[in-house]
Amino acid sequence: MSEVLLETRNLSFTYPGEDEKSPPALEGIDLQIADGEYVALIGPNGSGKTTLLKQFNALLRPTSGELYFDGRSTADENNIAFIRAHCGMIFQNPDNQIVGATVEEDVAFALENLAVPPPEIRRRVAEALELLGISQLAATPPHLLSGGEKQKVAMAGILAAAPRCLLLDEPTAMLDPAGQAAVIDTLQMLNRERGITVVHVTHFPEEAALARRVIVLDRGRLVQDGPPAEILTDLGPLRALGLRTTAAGELAGLLREDGFPLCRGILHNRELVEQLCLFAQKI
Ligand SMILES: Nc1ncnc2c1ncn2[C@@H]1O[C@H](COP(=O)(O)OP(=O)(O)OP(=O)(O)O)[C@@H](O)[C@H]1O
Ligand SMILES: [Mg+2]
Repeated sequence: MSEVLLETRNLSFTYPGEDEKSPPALEGIDLQIADGEYVALIGPNGSGKTTLLKQFNALLRPTSGELYFDGRSTADENNIAFIRAHCGMIFQNPDNQIVGATVEEDVAFALENLAVPPPEIRRRVAEALELLGISQLAATPPHLLSGGEKQKVAMAGILAAAPRCLLLDEPTAMLDPAGQAAVIDTLQMLNRERGITVVHVTHFPEEAALARRVIVLDRGRLVQDGPPAEILTDLGPLRALGLRTTAAGELAGLLREDGFPLCRGILHNRELVEQLCLFAQKI
């Protein structure tokens, strides 16, 4: 078992000013995420996904219980700068996180705040732009970019700061299919090749199916936690929460209900096609 990077212990959180009778946004969350994991966080609207992500990088702190990043509690003010520096967060709307007059300046912004020496800043910015395939946009003012391009700029800014953990809140919600694929490919590459821990909030089952672990929240509670082939093929609990699985998973479920002898755990189109071909060969 790898080292634990993120850990919550009986974490509960109520937004300040909320009525005492209203349920907490998070309640009794016990969770460990190992260094290098790729976790998808799913759940209906209002289930607490964004609130939990914000706890992970100490934008919010528990009302009761604890949260530790790399063994450091977010309750201790002295740990906050360390945690924020190592835990980069990407939001759904890139407009909220772009500050520079050009793409290059924007990507350099966090590094300048961290007092990184200028030659090192130039090197890291160039590398991050290259990684996301947007080097040609270096001198462009961000307000002239499309939503997908802006999201890549925001990601480059986070990556240049070399975080150990990426927290993403519906990062592809505003992107076209090509932009979505580019962001997902980048996340997978960063996780596989650089060992960056990824916690990815998504309403897209196809994205959740690419994670190694899926955590389901419902009304502030952690209700399921396991590999995608288990969580996303157990259709009853998903449907009860108003969630769905991948298109291939839904189709496989319907075929099985109609008596097709398909094995469990199908989530990807390719797996379904292979199973159907096997079935066709037998008849
Ligand atoms: N700033 C806030 N002040 C008070 N309550 C809030 C605030 N932000 C969220 N909440 C409440 O906390 C709960 C969890 O909200 P959260 O935004 O974490 O849900 P979510 O799972 O991210 O939903 P979505 O899928 O819609 O993004 C909801 O009941 C919501 O109304
Ligand atoms: Mg949210």
